[in-house]
Amino acid sequence: MNETQDLEKERVRQRMEELRRQIHYHNYRYYVLDSPVISDAEYDRLMRELIELEQRYPEFITPDSPTQRVGGMPAEQFEKVPHPAPILSLANAMNIEELRAWRERVKRLLPAGIPLAYVVEPKIDGLTVVLHYENGIFVRGATRGDGLVGEDVTANLRTIHSLPLRIPPHDAGIAPPPRLVVRGEAYMPVSKFHEFNRRQMETGGQVFANPRNAAAGSVRQLDPSITASRPLSLFTYAIVTAEGITIRTQWETLEYLRRMGFPVFAEAARFEDAQFEELEKYCQEWAEKRDTLDYEIDGLVVKIDDLETQARLGVVGNSPRGSIAFKFPAREATTKLLDVGINVGRTGTLNPYAILEPVQISGATIRKATLHNFDEIARLDVRIGDTVIVRRAGEVIPEIVGPIVDLRTGNERPIEVPTHCPVCGEPVVRRPGEVAIYCINAACPAQLVRHVEHFVSQGAMDIVGFGSRLAELFVEQGLIKDVADIYYLKKEDLLKLEGFGEKKADNLLRAIEESKNRPLQRLIVALGIPGVGSVVAGILADHFRSIDRLASAAEEELQQLEGIGPETARSIVEYFQRPRHREILEKLRRAGVRMAEEVPAERPAAGPLAGKTFVITGTLPHMTREEATALIEAAGGKVASSVSSKTDYLLVGEAPGGTKYNKARELGIPMIDEAELLRMLGKEPAE
Ligand code: IVH
Repeated sequence: MNETQDLEKERVRQRMEELRRQIHYHNYRYYVLDSPVISDAEYDRLMRELIELEQRYPEFITPDSPTQRVGGMPAEQFEKVPHPAPILSLANAMNIEELRAWRERVKRLLPAGIPLAYVVEPKIDGLTVVLHYENGIFVRGATRGDGLVGEDVTANLRTIHSLPLRIPPHDAGIAPPPRLVVRGEAYMPVSKFHEFNRRQMETGGQVFANPRNAAAGSVRQLDPSITASRPLSLFTYAIVTAEGITIRTQWETLEYLRRMGFPVFAEAARFEDAQFEELEKYCQEWAEKRDTLDYEIDGLVVKIDDLETQARLGVVGNSPRGSIAFKFPAREATTKLLDVGINVGRTGTLNPYAILEPVQISGATIRKATLHNFDEIARLDVRIGDTVIVRRAGEVIPEIVGPIVDLRTGNERPIEVPTHCPVCGEPVVRRPGEVAIYCINAACPAQLVRHVEHFVSQGAMDIVGFGSRLAELFVEQGLIKDVADIYYLKKEDLLKLEGFGEKKADNLLRAIEESKNRPLQRLIVALGIPGVGSVVAGILADHFRSIDRLASAAEEELQQLEGIGPETARSIVEYFQRPRHREILEKLRRAGVRMAEEVPAERPAAGPLAGKTFVITGTLPHMTREEATALIEAAGGKVASSVSSKTDYLLVGEAPGGTKYNKARELGIPMIDEAELLRMLGKEPAE
């Protein structure tokens, strides 16, 4: 090899080192600080360049290269790694009294007059890892094992992006210590956990009961490429051993780790002994706030700040006396699933719930827990008779985490998906893309109050003075069994109710009477057809102009209308197909409710455009659609919202809508522009 080649190779080697340095730094900004300073594209460019150089010069690949995170070859089994010092556990304080007792014990054991301070940190519910660094390079990572010897999971830990492969993260003038062994916790963020479990379920993979199990299962994988695909993260909180540095307190430890580029809890706090009451308050506050974090904590760890004092206190059994875990109340328990009940919500959703053998969780007796929906039941594969894990988190209703499959006896029964509403007995429906099962019977007692509230509301029949309270009262008293009964309320029945005098009864009956003449659009809104709000109702009223025509419309015809999608079309047809809904409509008709759009009296029957129906599409050059509509109507014409065989002209503006335009072409309907319209009206087109 000649000298120029040598020089060239040296330049490449230096470039590769520079790329590694930059990528490590950007990784740190992104994964540890959560504040990147370059774009993803820029980062990808650096990464690609490094990968290309490594392919051409494999001899320059280093074990700390950021490309080495992706996972290597699967292992047969984990190698053993002796820990440089015992990886101890913690004693627990189950409440504030036990925490105070710990403080007193510590003080008794220490010579009087030693100033005490404490560091409080979250106690993260993950998997303990022990990370070895030599001259700033991550060389080995182990699980806790039995506390003395762990398992070598280096290849797996490398795939965790927030784990620094090299420390410190950028040249801040500090050299890495020759040897550093750090203790931390690998975990799966709660948000990622739910997403991950959903994906696992979709792809038929293993579903985990909680983030802790997911993290542990992912780190203890013989195939590192599987670990690489799991959304794991890391926190560090202790130095197991170090060479070449002196650190005196826990607070300094956290600070040092942070400076070296390790992810450290943002939520740690330091208290002097005199501030112990504040420390207690801090602990209690976090017990309430635990759900605001994106990682699961099962308590806090209170540590004597001074490390020498900690050492002096020694160890009992497996636990150092100088630290204690303040445990939050447990949120999970196991019990038997006795049966499954179904609630029908006010929106018609069928909500399955578990009926449980009563069990205590954090001070409350739990007898029922939600099963969310029938997809969730299938996902969990929970069966009646199973021993299940129940979880009560924060203010949330208790939920079933899953069955303990190992405890099955073979007598468990699968939970059946209902085909009929348990309250009214009508068939239920399931909409594509939704997990919920619905009862859509407008007369279902479970939903009646809500249907009545909706029917009388402002955007619907707008019955003044008829609110939620009356809806509840009438349903409860049995005066209303479906919405049409509103129009059959009798004065003598009202007078029997508490709070109803002559005047109030008269006012209400008058308001009900007045509502009979609402425009068709309002009536369509009031029916509460799923997917039909006021906009869709407007389109339907415009097009069909009577309930009867709407009720007999076919799905295809509905789908032709601009603004109505296939699902809404199906929902409308489904609604009118039900005999129970037809009955309600007949009852409304008999009561005298207006069922069709009348031609407004002010509309001239004659005029140049009498009897002609127009449809407008696109933007007109000199007028709005409303102005055009007004002109057409003033001349005796009509404006419809969609093209059909009854359309006489399509008025076309700039950027016309495809549906209307194509339909008109198909049907051979004449198209005119604004100027032509004005000519038909005998007006001069605008310049
Ligand atoms: S200190 C000797 N600090 O909780 C020091 N542990 O139940 C003992 N843990 O095995 C550990 N967060 O894996 C400490 N901020 C934290 C922690 C923490 C989670 C784990 C740790 C330990 C377990 C004890």
